[in-house]
Amino acid sequence: MVCLGNICRSPIAEGVLKSKLEDSGLDILVDSAGLLSYHVGEPPDRRAIETAARHGIDISSQRARKFMLYDFENFDLIFAMDQQVYDELISMTADKNERKKTHLFLEFAECKNGSSVPDPYYGTRKDFDHVFQLVDEASVAIADKLMKMFR
Ligand code: 4NP
Repeated sequence: MVCLGNICRSPIAEGVLKSKLEDSGLDILVDSAGLLSYHVGEPPDRRAIETAARHGIDISSQRARKFMLYDFENFDLIFAMDQQVYDELISMTADKNERKKTHLFLEFAECKNGSSVPDPYYGTRKDFDHVFQLVDEASVAIADKLMKMFR
């Protein structure tokens, strides 16, 4: 799960997808990272922690890290939270295999509400709620897809 700061969208996506996969019996490592270095080492944004907590998901122990080129090797799938992040990730790929692994999160989920999770950093709690709803719906579809792919 990759966004810009790794403090708002991708930590929520990491927490939500993990919770959807909890009872799947699959051994899948879900992680998140950001393209920017500003927030490295920080916990998720307070509003992201509170939004997830209201839905019973604890993301408070996550710490922001920067996306690294070796993530393309270590992970089977890389999900970008929005188009800007996707374009940047694609520009970092070394070959066709790495490009094939890289997807827009909402497109992979075949979400009908657009292809980008809007950046809530300069927004309000309502924007964080919207992020949660988008990510939650997409994660149901993605968990289902992963179960079919890796079972
Ligand atoms: P995120 O939100 O990419 O969803 O974690 C942001 C957090 C911080 C910044 C931008 C977006 N920033 O510019 O510091």
